[in-house]
Amino acid sequence: MLIAPSMLACDFRSIGAEARRALDAGADWLHLDVMDGTFVDNISFGPDICAAIRNSVPSDTYLDAHLMVMAPDHYYPRFVKAGVNMITFHVEREAEVDLRATLAAIRAAGLQAGLAVNPATPVDKVLPYLAELDMVLIMSVVPGFGGQSFMPHVLDKVRRLAEERRKNSLSFLIQMDGGIGAAQAALCREAGADCLVAGSSTFRAPDMAAAIAAMK
Ligand code: DX5
Ligand code: ZN
Repeated sequence: MLIAPSMLACDFRSIGAEARRALDAGADWLHLDVMDGTFVDNISFGPDICAAIRNSVPSDTYLDAHLMVMAPDHYYPRFVKAGVNMITFHVEREAEVDLRATLAAIRAAGLQAGLAVNPATPVDKVLPYLAELDMVLIMSVVPGFGGQSFMPHVLDKVRRLAEERRKNSLSFLIQMDGGIGAAQAALCREAGADCLVAGSSTFRAPDMAAAIAAMK
């Protein structure tokens, strides 16, 4: 199980040191929550902060950018430039954004690409894209804020995706994000998830290494 601490829950006064603290504690990836204040009701940070994180960690550190923005098609090049490894954006923007073209452009730039699914969105929305994806992100909270409670009903979506992946011999990763600690990690694994995003339960734990080990 890959564990991706969300930098949203770190101490922003020393974001580079916080990124290294997570890696020293056993983080596999670092998850970067980008919020534009319109797609979600919060504003976090953008490409310049992602570049600062990139420059604060060893060059082989895998940076996973989760874009909660209205226009991922407009903004993705700035995250490519910032040096992230994965760019995930939301399937809810399907009517306004050419998801296929954006996924293809991200992959053509040499990065991995994913689509995210909100708790209220049926998983069927992402099925037509599975062959073009490196990852599907199943949100287990309404995006916008850390520290919310895990919504167990989304586990059914993970089971469905795992089944589709098996049936069609695909290899995309299944990531879950929101309200995840050791107790939820077991349920996520059982359902078929490969990567867990965890903010509060890692950065705010008294012992981050123990928290990450417990989730694994
Ligand atoms: C929610 C973000 C999550 C969040 C996770 O909008 O996408 O990544 O920071 O934080 P916790 O683990 O505290 O729910
Ligand atoms: Zn996230």
